[in-house]
Amino acid sequence: MHRAKRLDLIPPYLFGEIARLKAQAIAEGKSLIDLGIGDPDQPTPWPIVDQLCEAAKDPITHRYDESEAGWPPFLESVSRWYRRRFGVEIDPKSEALLLLGSKDGLAHVCWAMIDPGDVGLVPDPGYTVYKVNTLMAGGDIYVMPLLAENGFLPKLSDIPSDIAKRAKLMFLNYPNNPTGAVASLEFFQDAVRFARDYDIAIVSDLAYSEVTYDGYVAPSMLQVDGAKNVVIEMHSLSKTFNMTGWRIGFAVGSADLIAHLNKLKSNIDSRQFPAIDLAAAYALDNVSNQSTLDLYKRRRDILVDGLAEIGWKIPKPKATLYVWAPVPKGYTSADFAKVLLTEAGVLVVPGSGYGQYGEGYVRMSLTVSGDKDGNLIFEAVRMIREKVKVEW
Ligand SMILES: Cc1ncc(COP(=O)(O)O)c(C=O)c1O
Repeated sequence: MHRAKRLDLIPPYLFGEIARLKAQAIAEGKSLIDLGIGDPDQPTPWPIVDQLCEAAKDPITHRYDESEAGWPPFLESVSRWYRRRFGVEIDPKSEALLLLGSKDGLAHVCWAMIDPGDVGLVPDPGYTVYKVNTLMAGGDIYVMPLLAENGFLPKLSDIPSDIAKRAKLMFLNYPNNPTGAVASLEFFQDAVRFARDYDIAIVSDLAYSEVTYDGYVAPSMLQVDGAKNVVIEMHSLSKTFNMTGWRIGFAVGSADLIAHLNKLKSNIDSRQFPAIDLAAAYALDNVSNQSTLDLYKRRRDILVDGLAEIGWKIPKPKATLYVWAPVPKGYTSADFAKVLLTEAGVLVVPGSGYGQYGEGYVRMSLTVSGDKDGNLIFEAVRMIREKVKVEW
């Protein structure tokens, strides 16, 4: 049967071999510690679930949300949260848009902003959604390498000016998946200056802004003077409140960018179940998820400190759910992920799955189903110590 050629632009599933080995291990009854997917294993805080149940009893939530940009009480709570969290004023009527999770916004902003031949500046390694949707919208990709020696920040001065002139979007994601790197407000200032010079819209992906440790507080790009002219920032309740399945997030920033994205999305989805919006508003206004952060931090420390003891030196991330670990010499990331899985029963993701500059690393997630207070992470470290015989 015919299919659109754009589907051929979607790269093959890079984790295919690992997925096959995982299925095989499970079929053979082997126990496996899965540090693969970044999906909070803890439940959504109960008061948020209670709010959903209450809101679902009100028939007003049973119909289409016919608002301009998302259920107004939700957008008002977004605006309050931005003021409290970042000291940034957001007009809930023109500078905020409800999303069905931030992936919705990150994908569709490409369709709203990219014409064939336009360039999208994408980080590599990076969340694959940026690249795939830019390509499907007919755009060309310019890869911004994220290298350890630059703190996994792109070097803006390396972007050739003819590319920058053709660029319509630049994706930045700090705190970063998969490297766990963070960016300073000074870097955000440089990025906004660059974007203004070349008339590029910045898509700032803040999906992990609240998943931080050791007192680190992540900035918003909208804290930069003049950022509202060029920045759209995407947020998610997924990781902040253990709500990945709920599909709720939001975009804030430039009123023009919000309007373009809204125009496109109005022809694609019909917004979210308003009871979810109301529960999400409650979460933004009232809920702290500190106990989950404390658990991730405990797991991070057991993992990174435990592996350091056997000689595997890995930087400790200040934020995100991920530990980005350089693989020992002589291995590709895919090879080493295979060694960890087959010899130690520990599943990790090869860095090459996130782009060519992810080669040489594996990503380990701190969201581990069934883990209690770090016991499975502890076991993963023990298995790696006992079973994986390499020179670290
Ligand atoms: C960097 C990054 N951005 C955005 C998302 C999308 O999250 P959601 O659509 O659940 O908000 C993810 C999910 O893993 C992510 O890693």
